[in-house]
Amino acid sequence: MEFKEELLQKTELVNNIIKGFYPKEEGLQKVIFEAMNYSIDAGGKRLRPIFMMEVSKLFDGFNKDIEPFMAALEMIHTYSLVHDDLPAMDNDDYRRGMLTTHKKFGHAMGILAGDALLNFAFETAADAVCNSNDINRAAKAMSVLGKKAGAYGMIGGQVVDVNLSGSKTTKEQLDFIYENKTSALIEAAFVIGAILSGANEEQINLVEKAAYNIGMAFQIQDDILDVIGDAKVIGKPVLSDEKNEKTTYVTIYGVDGAKKYVKDYTDEAINILANVGMENVFLNNLIISLINREK
Ligand code: IPE
Ligand code: IPE
Ligand code: MG
Ligand code: MG
Ligand code: MG
Repeated sequence: MEFKEELLQKTELVNNIIKGFYPKEEGLQKVIFEAMNYSIDAGGKRLRPIFMMEVSKLFDGFNKDIEPFMAALEMIHTYSLVHDDLPAMDNDDYRRGMLTTHKKFGHAMGILAGDALLNFAFETAADAVCNSNDINRAAKAMSVLGKKAGAYGMIGGQVVDVNLSGSKTTKEQLDFIYENKTSALIEAAFVIGAILSGANEEQINLVEKAAYNIGMAFQIQDDILDVIGDAKVIGKPVLSDEKNEKTTYVTIYGVDGAKKYVKDYTDEAINILANVGMENVFLNNLIISLINREK
């Protein structure tokens, strides 16, 4: 099967899995469930849950325990976008081709929908731990999810990103931001996929390193698309970084210089994965395809 066709099929499969974990839109607080489902169902590439599923195939394979963690990670990623778009942060009006959550439901519901998605992710993961046949593994996975999403991970990166907007930023600071705001959740996808499919410590470390490199490449390409992308294709505004006076790989190295980093980080990720033992051709193709992604 051609790669593009395979990706479409897997995205569809992942969408169906995630849908099974959506909250029901009922009760006096119904609007919050509508805002949560609006944000998560808006589309999105579903890369993190796809990564989690595909990484498991490097080890003992996909199993039912992985499904709730795929949904939980996509909920956390979605909440990070809902809050990232708020007026106090990047102040953007479009996301995934639709109005941002705060534009559609109001500022307060934007904040609360993000909070609710984050909490619901842990409700979902905690239920998964309780129902698992291997509670030890599932608990480990939940611990990784917490750390990678929190102030030692994604939130930490967003904090420094926001604090350094409008001021001079060194490459070292920029790399801290990217490692945390973007690589951390991709590392969560890889490490959780590995843990839940029986990888050993050494293998877990390898996939975490590969994911770090994929995340760096992914964020640098995101910066490039912020400058040369098509808003209709990326589903979010272009020139958001310039508006917010962010230092990016593009402002430091230019588009061509940044492109070289995307390629180098990706090559490094593929090299690291080659040491895991098993190969997943689709996973490798997916990682490589992101070098030239247009959305
Ligand atoms: C956007 O992530 C935020 C970054 C970390 C760059 P994605 O590009 O994966 O967004 P969706 O999920 O496809 O909307
Ligand atoms: C945000 O980076 C990464 C997150 C953790 C949400 P950006 O601010 O560049 O993401 P986009 O471009 O709005 O998707
Ligand atoms: Mg941002
Ligand atoms: Mg943003
Ligand atoms: Mg961006």
